[in-house]
Amino acid sequence: MNKKVLIKTYGCQMNVYDSSRMRDVLAPLGYEETQSVEAADFVILNTCHIREKADDKVYSELGKLRDMKEARAADGREMMIAVAGCVGQAEGSEIIKRNKAVDLVFGPQTYHRLPAMLKQRRDEGRSVVETEFEVKDKFEGLKSAPQAVGSVASFLTIQEGCDKFCTFCVVPYTRGAEFSRPVEQVLAEAEKLAARGVREVTLLGQNVNAYRGEGGNGPESLASLVTRLSQISGIERIRYVTSHPRDMSDDLIAAHASNDKLMPYLHLPIQAGNDRVLKAMNRGHTSAHYLKLIDKIRAAKPDIALSGDFIVGFPGETEGEFEDTLNIVREVNYASAYTFKYSPRPGTPAAEKKDQVPEKVKTERLARLQALIVQQTADFNASCVGKTFNVLLEKPGRQDGQLIGRSPYLQSVHLAVRGLKIGDIAPISIKSVGPNSLSGHYDPVH
Ligand code: 5AD
Ligand code: SF4
Repeated sequence: MNKKVLIKTYGCQMNVYDSSRMRDVLAPLGYEETQSVEAADFVILNTCHIREKADDKVYSELGKLRDMKEARAADGREMMIAVAGCVGQAEGSEIIKRNKAVDLVFGPQTYHRLPAMLKQRRDEGRSVVETEFEVKDKFEGLKSAPQAVGSVASFLTIQEGCDKFCTFCVVPYTRGAEFSRPVEQVLAEAEKLAARGVREVTLLGQNVNAYRGEGGNGPESLASLVTRLSQISGIERIRYVTSHPRDMSDDLIAAHASNDKLMPYLHLPIQAGNDRVLKAMNRGHTSAHYLKLIDKIRAAKPDIALSGDFIVGFPGETEGEFEDTLNIVREVNYASAYTFKYSPRPGTPAAEKKDQVPEKVKTERLARLQALIVQQTADFNASCVGKTFNVLLEKPGRQDGQLIGRSPYLQSVHLAVRGLKIGDIAPISIKSVGPNSLSGHYDPVH
């Protein structure tokens, strides 16, 4: 009888990729995926440690799972529970101390060893913690796993970890040092995806534009990898996320101008607009550097849609310093952006600072920043009405005959279609804007 696994994914896109690879690793053991916790023999929480809220969710979820496991044990039915991802990495055996129902704890770099961990759990009869990592081994280990693809757009991790040590961030501790997968390994994975019908790949890395993968004659840049990927037949669109301003090299900017498969969208976080705050964050760039970079990028690709991340209420941030963040947002004019209240993370330098900003002030600043960004996103979306652009059709919509796709600028586009199917890339003329999406019609004349 087939066993069922439920994988609950929290946090970033890299966790989404990791969860899909966990599925691949478990498939040869007879595990099928389920969305129902009642049906699951094995539940994996693939967790996020980036902010406190994300952490809290894990422990409350584990409490519920423990009750369920105990109820099942009374009926003689088993339920395995695993904590994967960045909370697993950061907290290790502490998780098992807090909740004895947890069978496995592992980090983002060790899940390729899931079959061995499951075996060890059964053979030894006690919980297993696997957080010692060598990221190179993971990708080597994953090569042989059969890759199941559910969509025409797929993530592909090419770089992992971070050496930048922004003072607010846990990533350098949970994902480790920067590592780039070798060029050939990335190309082989992209070819496999293309053969399964994938038309768009989003290259993932915590510092994706710092990519320096071994290419045979020395390390290659992200721009060079993008060139090679765009030669794979079937791959029509390429995106990458997340980039650091310090690594936004000229060859990558030039690729935006010359390579039509590279989508006109760039997520380039600045985090804050004030130079004292940026320095305290250890970002390694000023607001002027960032603005100059934006000018260069827009000169190369005038229609590029820009996105970013912002933290409000970093320790010591004054009202005036926060207003510099509002000012930079006004100056850049984003198509979309993510905003966060600063959350002190154990073990990071900023968490030790005495001048933490009160919660009330953070809440109020977040609201002001969000209002500005919501307006910019609405303006950007409204500016698309009347334009026609190619949309990749990704999935069925809620209504009969409706499909949902993505614009080059990463917006969701809803359309009623005749004669088109999932996987098509078709010219769509945009007719109207909703709060989170666009609507359009197929426009075959273009
Ligand atoms: N508090 C709030 N936001 C954070 N981020 C990273 N660490 C923290 C933190 N401690 C945000 C940054 C980053 C995004 C992924 O999460 O903006 O770019
Ligand atoms: Fe975190 Fe900074 Fe590294 Fe991004 S660059 S992962 S924010 S430490």
